[in-house]
Amino acid sequence: MQLVIFNGSPRGKNSNSEVIIQWLIEGLQQEADNPIDLLYLNKTQNHQSYISRIQASDTALIVFPLYTDCMPGIVMAFFEALEPLRKSLSGLKLGFVVHSGFPEAHQSRFVEKYLQWLAEELDAKYMGTVIMGSSEGIRSMSSSMTKKKRKLFNQLGNSLLLENQFNVEIVKKIAGREKMSNFAAQCFSILSKTGITNYYWNSQLKKNKVYQDRFAKPYSERH
Ligand SMILES: Cc1cc2nc3c(=O)[nH]c(=O)nc-3n(C[C@H](O)[C@H](O)[C@H](O)COP(=O)(O)O)c2cc1C
Repeated sequence: MQLVIFNGSPRGKNSNSEVIIQWLIEGLQQEADNPIDLLYLNKTQNHQSYISRIQASDTALIVFPLYTDCMPGIVMAFFEALEPLRKSLSGLKLGFVVHSGFPEAHQSRFVEKYLQWLAEELDAKYMGTVIMGSSEGIRSMSSSMTKKKRKLFNQLGNSLLLENQFNVEIVKKIAGREKMSNFAAQCFSILSKTGITNYYWNSQLKKNKVYQDRFAKPYSERH
């Protein structure tokens, strides 16, 4: 298998996407030493050269975080750069991993539809989209906290190697619950009133010195 994996996180090597990719690679390399190309979409100056890499591969995986219910801008820019390859990648198997901060798989089902359409436009064989919620923080969690997810992605990588496609049962396990139960949603709503649920995000805003702009509405302001 000539496999290329794209990391679509703006955080590049320091991302949760990278952790997921390394789990996949562990599974992919269990049986044989597969040559794997790992490329970073945050290096936007390289997008043109990535096009020839995708053309030379028989399998491509694109892993990215959900950003505002869709893909990060760098991933969209890469998809747009693929326009000249429309209807020309019939030899390519193309799969995606979309992960998000919030736990519900449901919110990523909309971008999943787009990804299926994209594969069809390229004439590639669509392997499917793996969806995982609650990904924020996995890069800083202890190995015991991520053990379950790591095992599932190891199994997914291994099944890709052996079956040349995503294993449907593993994909289902990774997605988990489509929506929170009513009880969990009510608990979350009560918890959010205490400010705990915003704690991490507020600390990130402060760290990046934009806390005071957190309610900014640049598109609704008149100039
Ligand atoms: C600008 C921005 C937008 C985001 N939008 C969403 C979103 O719509 N839904 C969600 O569940 N998580 C959202 N997240 C959370 C990321 O999907 C999550 O933190 C992810 O683990 C980041 O992965 P990375 O480290 O690979 O970039 C957003 C994060 C950022 C920075």
